[in-house]
Amino acid sequence: MTAPATDSPTTQRPKVGTELLALRGVTKHFGAVAALTGIDLTVHAGEVVALVGDNGAGKSTLVKVLAGVHAADSGTISFEGQDVRIHSPADAQDLGIATVYQDLALCENLNVVENLFLGQELRPARLDDVSMEVKAWELLRQLSAKIPTVRIPVASLSGGQRQTVAIARSLLGAPKIIILDEPTAALGVAQTAEVLNLVERLRENGHGVIMISHNMADVLAVADTVAVLRLGRNNGFFTVGDVSIEQIIAAITGATDNAVTQRASRRDPATPETEAPPDATTDSTRDATTDAGESDDTASARDDSSSNPTALTSEKE
Ligand SMILES: Nc1ncnc2c1ncn2[C@@H]1O[C@H](COP(=O)(O)OP(=O)(O)O)[C@@H](O)[C@H]1O
Ligand SMILES: [Mg+2]
Repeated sequence: MTAPATDSPTTQRPKVGTELLALRGVTKHFGAVAALTGIDLTVHAGEVVALVGDNGAGKSTLVKVLAGVHAADSGTISFEGQDVRIHSPADAQDLGIATVYQDLALCENLNVVENLFLGQELRPARLDDVSMEVKAWELLRQLSAKIPTVRIPVASLSGGQRQTVAIARSLLGAPKIIILDEPTAALGVAQTAEVLNLVERLRENGHGVIMISHNMADVLAVADTVAVLRLGRNNGFFTVGDVSIEQIIAAITGATDNAVTQRASRRDPATPETEAPPDATTDSTRDATTDAGESDDTASARDDSSSNPTALTSEKE
């Protein structure tokens, strides 16, 4: 009995730890808005990097820079040690960077095979159904995916299965980096577990994965490293295993002690005394918005006399 020619994890697994992608000082403005400032990010083969940050932190912009939707204004991007320019989606695809956007962009009425090959049919003039179906199963097998048949419309698949189809489609161009934008955001517990399994398959197959997520449990469950963005800048890199949820949240919010981190620490299952009600003397009223919630509104409200308490007292005199 011979081993299958393809898909053998031992022969396919590349040198895990090879640097695939490195961003240095990447900056992107939209008019006066500095969406990204001096961003560094490194992704290795066989590594899952969680990209986290509050709304407006710059996650989507960073993904779009890597996907070739927006060109960076400055900074360098190197891919497998070579400086590269990513100025179009075709550039990203040629390098081997695939992106699965949150909306998945699947056609409900088409079946799994049709969705996988939409726009890139193996033989545009005369579709080779058999080859496409064989390739479809090969892609799904790489992900150990649980799809009963590839001839059912996507409309009848679960959320996790749809994510599977979208990820499988991203593998068609044999990418090295796969970017997943909130892959579990819309999913229940069981389907989330299914998708996290897919992410682990990608890592085992030697892909570098960038996963945007708001769910810290998912991040700690599947990521190797965590890159935090805040207000368009790097605000911390962590190794999973050395970091707590509170530490990540503190980096996301830019505060070390606020309502969000206090809630998180009270609920931390690692803390043995979580059974006890929270201590009434806990300083839970400390202002959480001091830093995290700063916006243009609060900044402009602080100008002139309102920010200068001595101005009022001197007027009285
Ligand atoms: N196309 C755009 N035009 C102008 N401003 C944008 C555009 N895309 C994003 N921004 C701004 O860039 C900042 C980062 O946004 P974004 O990358 O979407 O953050 P995130 O995905 O982390 O929520 C925000 O201030 C946002 O308003
Ligand atoms: Mg976004």
